[in-house]
Amino acid sequence: MLTVEQNQRLTQVGPGTPMGVLLRRYWHPVATLSQFNDRHTHKVRLLGEDLVLYRDRSGAFGLIGSQCPHRKMSMMYGIPEERGLRCAYHGWVFGEDGSCLEQPYEETEDPDGRFKDKVSIVSYKAESAFGLIFAYMGPDPAPMIPRWDLFAMDGVVRDVGHALIPCNWLQIMENSLDPIHLEWLHQYFADFVAQQKENPEGRRSRTPHEKIGFDEFQYGIIKRRVVEGGSEDDEDWQSGHPMVFPNILRQGGKRSGITWLGLQIRVPVDDNTTAHWWYACYPAEGQEQAPENIPFFKVPVATLDDEGQPLWDVLDNNSGQDIAAWTTQGAVADRSTETLGRSDKGIIMYRRMLEENMDAVAEGRDPQCTFRDPDANAYIELVSEKDPRFARPLGLRQGAAMKYSPILTGRSVLTSDLDG
Ligand code: FES
Ligand SMILES: [Fe+2]
Repeated sequence: MLTVEQNQRLTQVGPGTPMGVLLRRYWHPVATLSQFNDRHTHKVRLLGEDLVLYRDRSGAFGLIGSQCPHRKMSMMYGIPEERGLRCAYHGWVFGEDGSCLEQPYEETEDPDGRFKDKVSIVSYKAESAFGLIFAYMGPDPAPMIPRWDLFAMDGVVRDVGHALIPCNWLQIMENSLDPIHLEWLHQYFADFVAQQKENPEGRRSRTPHEKIGFDEFQYGIIKRRVVEGGSEDDEDWQSGHPMVFPNILRQGGKRSGITWLGLQIRVPVDDNTTAHWWYACYPAEGQEQAPENIPFFKVPVATLDDEGQPLWDVLDNNSGQDIAAWTTQGAVADRSTETLGRSDKGIIMYRRMLEENMDAVAEGRDPQCTFRDPDANAYIELVSEKDPRFARPLGLRQGAAMKYSPILTGRSVLTSDLDG
């Protein structure tokens, strides 16, 4: 249980809040490169700020305030120029550093005037990498975008799922430090869902946990489990899988005979909303996939119908079940009335880690998972159970948003190549 103030400290992400200041020290995905195949501007809300991401005709990305500082028209209608974005209303142009590059009528009437030097728009850094566009809202110098293994790995194809989840980011992250929910939410409840759907193939049996363990490591927390019938020799204990600080779950799984590895990246939009990204890699030796061709898909969010009845068709997979758990804790879970037990020791460890890193930033130090040395950031290996580099993948466990993955569901041309 936390006090109301402790809960606010962990959940509020707006400018100037301790958690907002910590999370501004990281690069966050805000779009996929493939989304820019049919657009020049993209609406972004990140850490409580409304922004517009754009690509100008030189190919550079900019991330600027959502409204023109002249008379406030939305920059979503902006016209990309060779450099910068031109407001649709009166033609002022803004560069990716926020500077005003042109003010056509002002320059006509006052050719020697320097009015534009007095005008700027809010701006943040935006960079394309690994098929995603990342934004950085912290102080200079910005750290490097981490080259987590799944971002930098060769011999795989990828797809990227997205959902806007109507709840605070912390309850999604705490779910990733909570191994026990597997046997209930994803097995016992999943089995109940299959019964409701009269779907024999969806039936599950519950395998009780005998032991859970958590280890802090350089990049976060490794979580481990031993389930009934297993032992500490199993991959689930030996390898475990990591929560990558501050907001990524690294996972592996197997479906339709394909082993996949994924990152679930939880990006706070504001205190009450989280952009959830599923970034998945599938082994595909020898296949080329240009970053702008990485398929993008949406994951459904509603898990109840208009009458408040469970939507069984959305609840028949891990992501639907997790979304129901995350969102029904409330927009911001009231942790002053929670009741933690022994199953929650990973959550307690994670909250402490967040506190330590908020303190580190307040004291002028870089927080955990800040990379400034190119050698240390060349390829950051993370392991998890069911990694294809492991000899003995465990049995099928439907993971993440795999139900909606274009690659796994055959909605992508790449699937036929993978199925064999
Ligand atoms: S409102 Fe943007 S140029 Fe006038
Ligand atoms: Fe889950």
